[in-house]
Amino acid sequence: MKWNITSPVDRQRFDPQDVFEAGVAQHHIANTAYPIGHITTMRPYKILRQQIDSFAPQAWEGIDELGLYVHIPFCETRCSFCEYTVVDPRENQSAEDSYFDLLLKEFEMYDQRLATSHKQLIGFDIGGGTPTVAKVENIARVIEAAHRHFILPSNETISIETTPKIAAREPQKIRALKSLGIGRISMGVQIIQPSLLKALGRTGSAVNLNFAARDHIREAGFQKFNVDLMYGFARQSLKAWGETLAHAIELGPDYVTLYRMRYKGTRVAAQASNVELAQVNEMSALAKEMLSAAGYEANPGKNTYSKIKGDVGTSDYLRDRVIHGTPYIGYGLGAQSLSHQTLAYNSGAAGKALKLYQQKVEAGQLPIQDLYYLSREAAMGKMISVSFYFGEMNLNSFEKKFGITLE
Ligand SMILES: C[S@@+](CC[C@H](N)C(=O)[O-])C[C@H]1O[C@@H](n2cnc3c(N)ncnc32)[C@H](O)[C@@H]1O
Ligand code: SF4
Repeated sequence: MKWNITSPVDRQRFDPQDVFEAGVAQHHIANTAYPIGHITTMRPYKILRQQIDSFAPQAWEGIDELGLYVHIPFCETRCSFCEYTVVDPRENQSAEDSYFDLLLKEFEMYDQRLATSHKQLIGFDIGGGTPTVAKVENIARVIEAAHRHFILPSNETISIETTPKIAAREPQKIRALKSLGIGRISMGVQIIQPSLLKALGRTGSAVNLNFAARDHIREAGFQKFNVDLMYGFARQSLKAWGETLAHAIELGPDYVTLYRMRYKGTRVAAQASNVELAQVNEMSALAKEMLSAAGYEANPGKNTYSKIKGDVGTSDYLRDRVIHGTPYIGYGLGAQSLSHQTLAYNSGAAGKALKLYQQKVEAGQLPIQDLYYLSREAAMGKMISVSFYFGEMNLNSFEKKFGITLE
């Protein structure tokens, strides 16, 4: 498939200094997410709804290697800082089994249209939400489906996310997940101050729970253990951030991933203006200093620190997306997919409700809400933005993907 025609907005040229200043002025939203301005930048590339089902499969012709992301939109409670696609927790119990039925159907639909069983996976993430909220039987169904509908080499690590509460309370579940062949587990510690956790609606992240969770993860045999931390909250002092970092180091994970708070679209969006760029820069510098002293390494600007030599620390799925711009398919509510020339969002990304996704899958249609047929410049924008997750660009991968050097 060829690239789409470049839109007038993407043909415009801007002074780099102006771009830099705009980024500084909009520092809360200038992040690795792309696109940010859907209406201005993406509308020209939008495919009409009635053409989605016939158009989407063409974009995968000739792509033999790709990443897989499966989204599980359930959490025990909803944290007010969270930006992810999570359904109302009161629906979890009634919705879980039927949601996994829909996921399996989505695997089948894609296989019928793209012959995915002949395509090889480079990385497989089960994300959320909190996928470990689900029953082990359901996670097992997803992993079996991945083996049935893709070529999944044994050296590719499957990665999953959990919370301290689940890992502390359900050691048998953590062991069962390991025995399903999952090799990497990521746990959201975020922050440790009880008053701030409470104010952000985050329950069950107490320090003692984090230690118990860590013990269960290690006892289950996980050798790729990541801890997520968050900074850039209003009312989070530098001292409090230092204490959180010290606690994370004491947990001894293999990797620590730092998330700067992104306010857009969250319940606490109004607090963004209370956080200065200088404050978050100071926090990121403190993290670098403390993590480096404890043996964790990352390039300047990279979010994931690793203690393991030669291991970038992220999941295989994310590593290849960032370094090589590898295409990926996302299944489940609100999941995102990127081929070389298309970007797609499943239903539910905005409304965070299952109904439309469910209706489409049950009707045998791909559950895509928005599909964009990208120009080469728009696809470059995506790869460049995502690269900032690692604080660097791989020039060879860029040239291979786009047939032109970055310069
Ligand atoms: C999909 S969440 C899954 C982890 C798991 N549900 C948990 O909360 O522990 C992945 C990570 O995104 C980060 N995160 C959540 N909301 C965010 C936001 N608004 N801005 C930046 N990072 C965020 C958190 O660090 C979280 O651990
Ligand atoms: S931060 Fe994690 S636990 Fe909290 S709502 Fe988001 S995905 Fe769920």
